[in-house]
Amino acid sequence: MNRKDFIKGVGFACLGGGLISLLTDGCASSVYFARFILEGEGISLPKSEFTVIGKGRTKQRKFVLVKSEKYPFPIYVFKHNEEKYSALLLECTHKGCELVPHGEFLTCPCHGSEFTNTGRVQNPPAEQNLQTFNVTIKDETIFIKL
Ligand code: FES
Repeated sequence: MNRKDFIKGVGFACLGGGLISLLTDGCASSVYFARFILEGEGISLPKSEFTVIGKGRTKQRKFVLVKSEKYPFPIYVFKHNEEKYSALLLECTHKGCELVPHGEFLTCPCHGSEFTNTGRVQNPPAEQNLQTFNVTIKDETIFIKL
């Protein structure tokens, strides 16, 4: 490979990487563990944990994760809109593997079950919906009863 072909190859690789970065950046689906406060029988977190500020622009995360000592798996908190959030335990109801969030849905790496962002089974082998938590909103705070 001569120098010109090498530079052309690297250029296309960079363009491809930039495009992938743009696409993934656009869906804002990267995993983020939110800061929270233990409060009575649950936890509270500010709505601002869903906001990403960077390079002069603001984006909204679709979901955040919360790790409570009360459960061996993280809790997935999905934002439907400013006043509606879902909170689900990331434990597959088939045989107990940890689920992987993909923005608006969850998959199980063990046997392929899929769940919606409200915890409903989309694809077997799991048959039961996910464990959900009661969520209430007060002003700028999300309270999740554990
Ligand atoms: S443990 Fe999740 S599909 Fe089997």
